[in-house]
Amino acid sequence: MAKLVGVFAASHGPLMARDWHILPAAPKGRLDTAFRELGRRLTDTAPDVLIEISPDHWVNFFINNLPSVCIGVGEAHDGPPEPFMKDFQRTLPGAPDLAMHIVKTALAEDFEPSISHRLTLDHGFCIPLLRMGIARLPRVIPIVVNDLEPPMPSIRRCLAWGRLLAKAIASYPDDVRVAILATGGLSHSIGEPTMGDIDEPFDHGCIEAFREGRDAKVIDVLERGLAATGNGGHEVRNWVVAHGAAGSRGFELIDYLPVPEVYVGCAFAAWRIAGDLQAAA
Ligand SMILES: [Fe+2]
Repeated sequence: MAKLVGVFAASHGPLMARDWHILPAAPKGRLDTAFRELGRRLTDTAPDVLIEISPDHWVNFFINNLPSVCIGVGEAHDGPPEPFMKDFQRTLPGAPDLAMHIVKTALAEDFEPSISHRLTLDHGFCIPLLRMGIARLPRVIPIVVNDLEPPMPSIRRCLAWGRLLAKAIASYPDDVRVAILATGGLSHSIGEPTMGDIDEPFDHGCIEAFREGRDAKVIDVLERGLAATGNGGHEVRNWVVAHGAAGSRGFELIDYLPVPEVYVGCAFAAWRIAGDLQAAA
């Protein structure tokens, strides 16, 4: 049977790649340490497959065709198209059988995801992978959540998607180790009058809610907070999917730092999952 072995989250931002070489030493050092710690923990879980949950930054989809949730079921995915990511690998291997099992499980549970047999994975998917310095990437199942253009999936629905992912993994018959990585958030503002603002109270509210783990608090904090913070904050929906997949057991914050140079309130976290509790018992 497949096993969920780790659930993680990391912020992303184009300038973490494009401007990496000119970032001030202090935030760059902390970002580097946090990303590498996340990479170390992910590697320690020895995943065969990594389910990545990220927005699509208008690379695969636009307003003429905008799924709320799209699962990449391809044998392979294309690498990032951004020029500043040109040195990242051009093709990432997929896990089509497990991906299709997730789709079928979703449909059986009254979820209706879109599917794609060939997704392009932009900086949202690939910057955390790049910065974590993982020697050999596991096979990747990308899941695109619409965090960009209203109307977006509700926080409650993102939570349900997380539960659904956990159920699909637990019911997959092959012996596969599966990790989940949510990317995006926390607060940032792109292409709007508040561009560059980082909403630290919102970020700390998110962190406390996820750390505590109570679904009602996560929903309340986000439903109220997202209405008043920058548009990039909506990417925290991906963290909610991860929170749901981890069974709402709370997370360990690896680091949080607001980094104006990359426009993002940057956070890194690892959820407690069932195996952790068994090991601690
Ligand atoms: Fe993003």
